[in-house]
Amino acid sequence: MIQLIRGFKDILPGEVELWQHIERTAVLLFEDFGFKEIRIPILEHTELFSRSIGEDTDIVEKEMYTFSDRKGALITLRPEATASVVRAYIQHKLHSIDPVQKYYTIGPMFRRERPQKGRYRQFYQINAEVFGVASPLVDVQMVLMLMAFFSKLSVPDIQAHINSLGCPVCRVDFKSSLTGFLSDKTEHLCADCKKRSIKNPLRVLDCKVPGCKAVLSAAPLLAAHLCADCTQHFNTVTSRLSELKVPFVIDDRLVRGLDYYTRTTFEIQTGSLGAQNAIAGGGRYDGLVKALGGPDQPAIGFAVGLDRLASIVALNNADFSRRPDIFVAALGEKSQDMAFGWICAFCGEGIRAEMDFGDKSLKSQMKRADRLGAKYVLILGENEIEKGAAVLRNMATKAQNTILLPDVVQSVKEKIKHFERSTNLDG
Ligand code: HAM
Repeated sequence: MIQLIRGFKDILPGEVELWQHIERTAVLLFEDFGFKEIRIPILEHTELFSRSIGEDTDIVEKEMYTFSDRKGALITLRPEATASVVRAYIQHKLHSIDPVQKYYTIGPMFRRERPQKGRYRQFYQINAEVFGVASPLVDVQMVLMLMAFFSKLSVPDIQAHINSLGCPVCRVDFKSSLTGFLSDKTEHLCADCKKRSIKNPLRVLDCKVPGCKAVLSAAPLLAAHLCADCTQHFNTVTSRLSELKVPFVIDDRLVRGLDYYTRTTFEIQTGSLGAQNAIAGGGRYDGLVKALGGPDQPAIGFAVGLDRLASIVALNNADFSRRPDIFVAALGEKSQDMAFGWICAFCGEGIRAEMDFGDKSLKSQMKRADRLGAKYVLILGENEIEKGAAVLRNMATKAQNTILLPDVVQSVKEKIKHFERSTNLDG
């Protein structure tokens, strides 16, 4: 039997309702904050990612699914969404209408990492990106929106980790200090970091190899090299977050795995996931729009890891599946014909209706209705047709009513509306 590719997964009915709930919550909240949806392709020119994420990053060096198409063009399954959203902002001149644009997008990303719990080769992200605002208040708003999103989903045990990665001005000073620090330690670094320490020393800070991590524990910190503007920007972010009572910690060792970041960067970490503890990450990327050929517009964004988030929200055990409102148990050909007409009418009126299309006994149809969790069963056999009335059974209370055949659609609609009102009041 042909199986899934390693690191890929199916999201089956039963689980998918939770994903839909999370996605709906994000859409409603993000739209309240003024974000609009953008849909971008899954395949892009490889160069888009190598130029934005950075040639020396783990993602570009080792993790991208890259291949040539039939005409030899190098294309890549997107490992993230930010680069594509920036490309779209530039390509469609969206900045010319108004440089301030706020977008969200939801979909699969692909990275060929070693699969483990919380880490997949196809995984899903909810991204939000803001263009055209340099103010630190927007950084605060992004973290606030993210925390509000997790709070709506009752995600326990989360903390925002915040850092500043400075700007190209303060990076010069920091790079030389880091290069000096690394110069007599290269023999303790992994092969990749030996190269990185010369080409792009900041990337060494992101290395996961234990030997490199040990060397870096005493490395100089970017925080100590921030220029006056970056310091002021960061101070505004942290003081406003405190005023708004957003729980956060300053994490001066937080370096993100992508090269485009400037100034504020953040990660939301959780205690409920084990090693893969980041459920969202993001930050400013003020230089990326210009670097990809667009106008000099600042930007900031984040991505939520949907797979990891879903696994936490699932622990709340809430059931998001939608049960049938009514199951029509019809016996005999004539009843089945009538039942079919009714269920078509119900489904068109927003009532979830099911029937059995086989010629099954009443007992077996009742069993199926029970298994599906139907709220009501409408029973129709030859006897009922003769009497001109079907039997409506409330599956929770077992109460039964007769319903005159010409009134079935209208009466059932009313019953179900009443049922919903009463369960909403109860719950
Ligand atoms: P990232 O930190 O690479 O950032 O990914 C964001 C989130 O995606 C992570 O915190 C994690 O929850 C999830 N994630 C990443 N890789 C995997 C994986 N292999 N399996 C499961 N989940 C994963 C970015 O992608 C940036 N583009 C975020 C951003 C948007 N920055 C600015 N705008």
